[in-house]
Amino acid sequence: MIYNQEMTELETGCRNYFIEQDKKIVFGEGNVKANLMLVGEAPGRQEIEQGRPFVGQAGKNLDEFLQLLNIERDDIYITNAVKFRPAKINPKTNRLINRPPSKLEINDSKAFLIGQIKIIAPQIIVTLGNVPMRVILDNEKLNIGDLHGTVQNIHIDNISYLVFPLYHPASIIYKRALRAVYEEDLLKLKAIIS
Ligand code: URA
Repeated sequence: MIYNQEMTELETGCRNYFIEQDKKIVFGEGNVKANLMLVGEAPGRQEIEQGRPFVGQAGKNLDEFLQLLNIERDDIYITNAVKFRPAKINPKTNRLINRPPSKLEINDSKAFLIGQIKIIAPQIIVTLGNVPMRVILDNEKLNIGDLHGTVQNIHIDNISYLVFPLYHPASIIYKRALRAVYEEDLLKLKAIIS
Protein backbone atom coordinates (compact mmCIF):
# COMPACT_ATOMS: atom_id res chain seq x y z
CA MET A 1 0.00 0.00 0.00
CA ILE A 2 1.23 3.47 -0.81
CA TYR A 3 0.00 6.32 1.36
CA ASN A 4 0.72 9.98 1.40
CA GLN A 5 0.40 12.66 4.00
CA GLU A 6 -2.63 14.29 2.41
CA MET A 7 -4.57 11.02 2.30
CA THR A 8 -3.63 10.19 5.89
CA GLU A 9 -4.91 13.58 7.01
CA LEU A 10 -8.16 13.15 5.09
CA GLU A 11 -8.61 9.70 6.65
CA THR A 12 -8.04 11.08 10.15
CA GLY A 13 -10.56 13.84 9.47
CA CYS A 14 -13.09 11.29 8.26
CA ARG A 15 -12.50 9.01 11.25
CA ASN A 16 -12.93 11.87 13.71
CA TYR A 17 -16.05 13.14 11.93
CA PHE A 18 -17.79 9.76 12.17
CA ILE A 19 -16.55 8.98 15.70
CA GLU A 20 -18.81 11.83 16.81
CA GLN A 21 -21.71 9.82 15.38
CA ASP A 22 -20.38 6.63 16.99
CA LYS A 23 -19.63 5.12 13.59
CA LYS A 24 -16.63 3.01 12.63
CA ILE A 25 -15.33 3.66 9.16
CA VAL A 26 -13.59 1.90 6.31
CA PHE A 27 -11.84 4.70 4.49
CA GLY A 28 -10.15 3.03 1.51
CA GLU A 29 -6.86 1.43 0.57
CA GLY A 30 -4.44 0.96 -2.24
CA ASN A 31 -2.12 2.98 -4.36
CA VAL A 32 -2.64 6.74 -4.01
CA LYS A 33 -0.88 7.15 -7.36
CA ALA A 34 -3.26 4.71 -9.08
CA ASN A 35 -4.62 5.37 -12.54
CA LEU A 36 -7.77 3.48 -11.67
CA MET A 37 -9.95 4.22 -8.67
CA LEU A 38 -12.71 1.79 -7.80
CA VAL A 39 -15.71 2.99 -5.81
CA GLY A 40 -18.16 0.54 -4.22
CA GLU A 41 -21.31 1.29 -2.22
CA ALA A 42 -20.51 0.85 1.47
CA PRO A 43 -18.62 -1.53 3.74
CA GLY A 44 -20.40 -4.55 5.19
CA ARG A 45 -19.80 -6.47 8.42
CA GLN A 46 -16.54 -8.10 7.41
CA GLU A 47 -15.14 -4.87 5.99
CA ILE A 48 -15.84 -3.07 9.29
CA GLU A 49 -14.29 -5.91 11.28
CA GLN A 50 -11.12 -5.85 9.20
CA GLY A 51 -11.10 -2.10 8.45
CA ARG A 52 -10.65 -2.83 4.74
CA PRO A 53 -12.93 -2.45 1.71
CA PHE A 54 -14.03 -5.49 -0.30
CA VAL A 55 -13.00 -8.45 1.83
CA GLY A 56 -14.86 -11.77 2.28
CA GLN A 57 -17.24 -12.67 -0.54
CA ALA A 58 -17.14 -9.13 -1.96
CA GLY A 59 -13.35 -9.43 -2.05
CA LYS A 60 -13.58 -12.68 -4.01
CA ASN A 61 -15.85 -10.97 -6.55
CA LEU A 62 -13.38 -8.14 -6.77
CA ASP A 63 -10.45 -10.49 -7.32
CA GLU A 64 -12.32 -12.07 -10.21
CA PHE A 65 -12.95 -8.61 -11.62
CA LEU A 66 -9.26 -7.68 -11.33
CA GLN A 67 -8.17 -10.95 -12.89
CA LEU A 68 -10.32 -10.29 -15.94
CA LEU A 69 -8.72 -6.87 -16.26
CA ASN A 70 -5.25 -8.26 -15.67
CA ILE A 71 -4.48 -5.89 -12.82
CA GLU A 72 -3.38 -6.36 -9.23
CA ARG A 73 -5.23 -5.06 -6.19
CA ASP A 74 -2.12 -3.07 -5.24
CA ASP A 75 -2.20 -1.21 -8.56
CA ILE A 76 -5.50 0.50 -7.85
CA TYR A 77 -7.17 2.51 -5.11
CA ILE A 78 -10.35 1.02 -3.64
CA THR A 79 -12.95 2.82 -1.60
CA ASN A 80 -16.70 3.17 -1.08
CA ALA A 81 -19.18 6.00 -1.56
CA VAL A 82 -20.33 5.58 2.05
CA LYS A 83 -17.56 5.19 4.61
CA PHE A 84 -19.49 3.35 7.36
CA ARG A 85 -21.81 0.34 7.39
CA PRO A 86 -25.50 1.17 6.92
CA ALA A 87 -27.17 -1.52 8.99
CA LYS A 88 -30.44 -2.38 10.74
CA ILE A 89 -31.60 -5.04 13.16
CA ASN A 90 -33.23 -8.05 11.59
CA PRO A 91 -36.28 -8.51 13.85
CA LYS A 92 -36.32 -12.27 13.21
CA THR A 93 -32.71 -12.95 14.22
CA ASN A 94 -31.99 -9.82 16.27
CA ARG A 95 -28.77 -9.46 14.34
CA LEU A 96 -27.47 -6.55 12.31
CA ILE A 97 -27.94 -6.78 8.56
CA ASN A 98 -26.91 -4.43 5.76
CA ARG A 99 -29.43 -1.97 4.35
CA PRO A 100 -29.18 0.59 1.53
CA PRO A 101 -27.70 3.91 2.66
CA SER A 102 -30.07 6.87 2.99
CA LYS A 103 -29.60 10.09 0.99
CA LEU A 104 -28.42 11.80 4.15
CA GLU A 105 -25.83 9.10 4.81
CA ILE A 106 -24.59 9.25 1.22
CA ASN A 107 -24.23 13.02 1.44
CA ASP A 108 -22.43 12.75 4.76
CA SER A 109 -19.59 10.78 3.13
CA LYS A 110 -19.51 12.70 -0.14
CA ALA A 111 -16.92 15.33 0.77
CA PHE A 112 -14.48 12.57 1.81
CA LEU A 113 -14.98 10.70 -1.45
CA ILE A 114 -14.42 13.87 -3.50
CA GLY A 115 -11.32 14.55 -1.38
CA GLN A 116 -9.98 11.08 -2.23
CA ILE A 117 -10.58 11.65 -5.95
CA LYS A 118 -8.70 14.98 -5.82
CA ILE A 119 -5.70 13.41 -4.08
CA ILE A 120 -5.47 10.37 -6.34
CA ALA A 121 -6.43 12.19 -9.55
CA PRO A 122 -7.08 8.86 -11.31
CA GLN A 123 -7.36 8.56 -15.07
CA ILE A 124 -10.55 6.59 -14.65
CA ILE A 125 -13.05 6.12 -11.83
CA VAL A 126 -14.96 2.85 -11.95
CA THR A 127 -18.19 2.92 -9.97
CA LEU A 128 -19.99 -0.25 -8.87
CA GLY A 129 -23.77 0.01 -8.82
CA ASN A 130 -26.17 2.93 -8.50
CA VAL A 131 -24.99 4.53 -5.27
CA PRO A 132 -21.41 5.58 -6.21
CA MET A 133 -22.44 6.34 -9.81
CA ARG A 134 -25.15 8.77 -8.65
CA VAL A 135 -22.84 10.44 -6.13
CA ILE A 136 -19.96 10.91 -8.52
CA LEU A 137 -22.07 11.98 -11.50
CA ASP A 138 -24.01 14.19 -9.08
CA ASN A 139 -27.45 13.09 -10.26
CA GLU A 140 -29.61 10.86 -8.12
CA LYS A 141 -32.06 10.15 -10.94
CA LEU A 142 -29.52 8.18 -12.99
CA ASN A 143 -29.91 4.46 -13.41
CA ILE A 144 -27.13 1.92 -13.73
CA GLY A 145 -29.25 0.03 -16.29
CA ASP A 146 -28.87 3.01 -18.66
CA LEU A 147 -25.24 3.95 -18.05
CA HIS A 148 -23.33 0.73 -17.34
CA GLY A 149 -20.42 0.17 -19.71
CA THR A 150 -20.35 3.77 -20.99
CA VAL A 151 -17.70 6.44 -20.47
CA GLN A 152 -18.91 9.53 -18.59
CA ASN A 153 -17.12 12.77 -17.78
CA ILE A 154 -17.04 14.82 -14.59
CA HIS A 155 -15.26 17.98 -13.54
CA ILE A 156 -13.98 18.61 -10.06
CA ASP A 157 -12.16 21.91 -9.52
CA ASN A 158 -11.73 22.29 -13.30
CA ILE A 159 -10.06 18.91 -13.67
CA SER A 160 -11.89 16.39 -15.78
CA TYR A 161 -12.13 12.70 -14.93
CA LEU A 162 -13.47 9.73 -16.83
CA VAL A 163 -16.10 7.70 -15.04
CA PHE A 164 -17.01 4.16 -16.05
CA PRO A 165 -20.15 2.83 -14.31
CA LEU A 166 -20.44 -0.92 -13.85
CA TYR A 167 -23.11 -3.05 -12.21
CA HIS A 168 -22.23 -3.93 -8.64
CA PRO A 169 -20.67 -7.43 -8.66
CA ALA A 170 -23.16 -8.48 -5.93
CA SER A 171 -26.08 -7.77 -8.29
CA ILE A 172 -24.60 -10.27 -10.72
CA ILE A 173 -25.00 -12.94 -8.08
CA TYR A 174 -28.69 -12.11 -7.57
CA LYS A 175 -29.47 -11.63 -11.28
CA ARG A 176 -27.57 -14.23 -13.24
CA ALA A 177 -28.76 -12.80 -16.58
CA LEU A 178 -26.56 -9.75 -15.93
CA ARG A 179 -23.39 -11.82 -15.93
CA ALA A 180 -22.85 -11.67 -19.72
CA VAL A 181 -23.55 -7.92 -19.75
CA TYR A 182 -21.12 -7.39 -16.90
CA GLU A 183 -18.37 -9.35 -18.65
CA GLU A 184 -18.95 -7.39 -21.85
CA ASP A 185 -18.62 -4.14 -19.86
CA LEU A 186 -15.38 -5.42 -18.31
CA LEU A 187 -13.95 -6.09 -21.76
CA LYS A 188 -14.81 -2.51 -22.74
CA LEU A 189 -13.06 -1.27 -19.62
CA LYS A 190 -10.05 -3.45 -20.38
CA ALA A 191 -9.80 -1.91 -23.85
CA ILE A 192 -9.96 1.59 -22.36
CA ILE A 193 -7.31 1.04 -19.73
CA SER A 194 -4.89 -0.75 -22.00
N1 URA B 1 -17.82 -4.37 0.30
C1 URA B 1 -17.44 -3.10 0.08
O1 URA B 1 -16.44 -2.63 0.63
N2 URA B 1 -18.19 -2.37 -0.75
C2 URA B 1 -19.26 -2.83 -1.38
O2 URA B 1 -19.88 -2.10 -2.15
C3 URA B 1 -19.63 -4.17 -1.14
C4 URA B 1 -18.89 -4.91 -0.29
